[in-house]
Amino acid sequence: MGAGSRPPQAFGGIPEIMETLQEQGYIADRDVALSIHLSVALHKPLLIEGAAGVGKTEIAKVMARAVATDLIRLQCYEGLDVHTALYEWNYQRQMLRIKLEETTGRPVEEKEHLIFSEPFMLKRPLLQAITADQAPVLLIDEVDRADEEFEAFLLEVLSDFQVSIPEIGTIRARHIPYVVLTSNRTRDLSDALRRRCLYLWIDYPTFEKELAIIHRKVPEINDRLARQIGAFMQLVRRVNLDKVPGIAETLDWSAALLALHRDHLDPTAVEETLGCLCKDQEDLTRVRARYLGPILERIDAIGQSGDGWNSDRIAQLAAQLPKGR
Ligand SMILES: Nc1ncnc2c1ncn2[C@@H]1O[C@H](COP(=O)(O)OP(=O)(O)OP(=O)(O)O)[C@@H](O)[C@H]1O
Ligand SMILES: [Mg+2]
Repeated sequence: MGAGSRPPQAFGGIPEIMETLQEQGYIADRDVALSIHLSVALHKPLLIEGAAGVGKTEIAKVMARAVATDLIRLQCYEGLDVHTALYEWNYQRQMLRIKLEETTGRPVEEKEHLIFSEPFMLKRPLLQAITADQAPVLLIDEVDRADEEFEAFLLEVLSDFQVSIPEIGTIRARHIPYVVLTSNRTRDLSDALRRRCLYLWIDYPTFEKELAIIHRKVPEINDRLARQIGAFMQLVRRVNLDKVPGIAETLDWSAALLALHRDHLDPTAVEETLGCLCKDQEDLTRVRARYLGPILERIDAIGQSGDGWNSDRIAQLAAQLPKGR
């Protein structure tokens, strides 16, 4: 196979990328667009780290939609091995072929060669990405969950975009995939992998960004409720929780409140739906007992004061919340 290539300028410059992300429903600041731009321009994988539910995986999905290409996803987990990631032989098909070949009188070497050829392979995500007809987005999701040996193998693939298969030989990428890796930092990734990638850190969103995301993803919601939800999320993230809720929780919660026909936050509405944002029993108890009242009081204070809803005002109020556990 020939040397890898990609259509030039598929993504355009930074302003075009920002516009495309926006069109695809992803609210992004310039940092994200810049990272995508550099990753595409320099042919380097983009490693995205951040807490759970802050929009890491979504970037790869949006990139694939933006240039109308396939998203090939390799979900990592402990014990993930090379075969599951790369290829397996299709034993059933091989067996069937051997049966059919029984009467043909072909030399054994030829039969062997036949059943160990590409049509008898089950391509797994990495090989699919390397052999795709159009440069796909290859999402290596939650790479921190895979073992270190697997990480070393990934490094090889990501540096050459080629794989050696003993029975077939070397398969080189026709089109170099756009690679996105995500990590929740459950373990530290190796320096070698980091060096190979460009790095993007995604933090919890500001109030303004989160509000824009709520409006974009749950457009039926009224502005007052959206602001209250946004402010609640900002405040609840500042208290001491074991599982800090991300944007995924914000959106679930918004949808739940909408489904219950709530048009503003009050203690009952929050009580009923707290399970959408606190996914840990101790956090639930803690928020109910200690923080729910104070947070709602502060949200009401913003609503009544006419000071305006913004990050600075919310940060001031957050500083007044009860401390410790
Ligand atoms: N900037 C954003 N604009 C629009 N939607 C967003 C944004 N960030 C996150 N979301 C939405 O929040 C949800 C969670 O995003 P995503 O799954 O990408 O998070 P993640 O960081 O990969 O989480 P995890 O660590 O749990 O895998 C998705 O529904 C996504 O659409
Ligand atoms: Mg994810």
